[in-house]
Amino acid sequence: MIEETEKEIKILAIESSCDETAAAVVVNGRKVLSNVISSQIDIHKLYGGVVPEIASRKHIEKVTQVIDEALKEAGVTLDDIDAVGVTYGPGLVGALLVGVSAAKALAYAAKKPLVGVHHIEGHISANYITHPELEPPFLCMVVSGGHTHLTYVKDYGKYEIIGKTRDDAAGEAFDKVARAIGLGYPGGPKIQKLALEGNKDAIAFPRAKIADAEYDFSFSGVKSAVLNYINQCEMKGEEVNRADVAASFQESVVDVIVTHTIHAAKALGINKVALAGGVASNTALRSGMDEAAKKAGFTLYYPEPILCTDNAAMIGAAAYYEYIAGNTSGLDLNAVPNLKIGER
Ligand code: KG4
Ligand code: ZN
Repeated sequence: MIEETEKEIKILAIESSCDETAAAVVVNGRKVLSNVISSQIDIHKLYGGVVPEIASRKHIEKVTQVIDEALKEAGVTLDDIDAVGVTYGPGLVGALLVGVSAAKALAYAAKKPLVGVHHIEGHISANYITHPELEPPFLCMVVSGGHTHLTYVKDYGKYEIIGKTRDDAAGEAFDKVARAIGLGYPGGPKIQKLALEGNKDAIAFPRAKIADAEYDFSFSGVKSAVLNYINQCEMKGEEVNRADVAASFQESVVDVIVTHTIHAAKALGINKVALAGGVASNTALRSGMDEAAKKAGFTLYYPEPILCTDNAAMIGAAAYYEYIAGNTSGLDLNAVPNLKIGER
């Protein structure tokens, strides 16, 4: 175990699990010296979603340049770095492999320790950057394009999943509903914008409950309800009010997320609640959670928007806590597309 206060520990972190090629330099898990993100969204939106093969190829083209930029912007060289952190799962295998291979090559060449990081642990750790005072234990609702995990953060690097989605992730539901009402990819920000012009109480979309697991989620029902609603309007020759659909759909997702999180925090006796992941930048979710947390007497944390979406600074924050706990990886580290949280 390395003493936290002994010296400044600088991590060079790399993230390539989906459609963002990212590198960052983070000091002591909390201070960001650089956070470079090269997004592939403009390419994937031509296809309405992420195309894995294209993602891997684009990562290969960008990864070296992004790492160089991150070091340059931070004003450091590889010699100044204490360890190389990298996302090794979950995610798209070909995409993950690019970051993992780059990190292994750098760690080997510069003789620096390598730290494999779980992508979701990264999303959670983004909160440590925005809120330097935040320490575990707390409850974190991770809502992204691929994940919906209500996570009990017991300590640094110690997680317990309290609830998760049985089908679509929250962000995936936003993306699919956006496509159904003719908005492009990624759908979340577009639904949020259109919802501002609509009435959230106009259509009563369902809030799914799972009988045997009260903190689990299901978003495929609300997605189907939106599709049915649109079909029915078309059959009756009625015009679909897309803004009302966006606002009412968003409200049903926000309602379920807020209710489950507050309910679980009360049951666990935790008064610190956090949000993380791409959907955590949703303004309706933030204000809904703000209101509910205030009412319950909880303190609410969420990362600034740039740290909600996929980035490498969050991987640097998570890697720091693994590094000081002595959890480094061998050069045989592999990409694990379905990596479970808390596994190493
Ligand atoms: O965390 P993230 O960047 O990537 C994954 O790890 O999946 O999350 C991307 C997801 C997409 O589904 C996107 O539509 C959603 O986050 N998203 C939002 C918002 N911004 C991004 N969903 C709702 N409201 C937003 N403002
Ligand atoms: Zn993510």
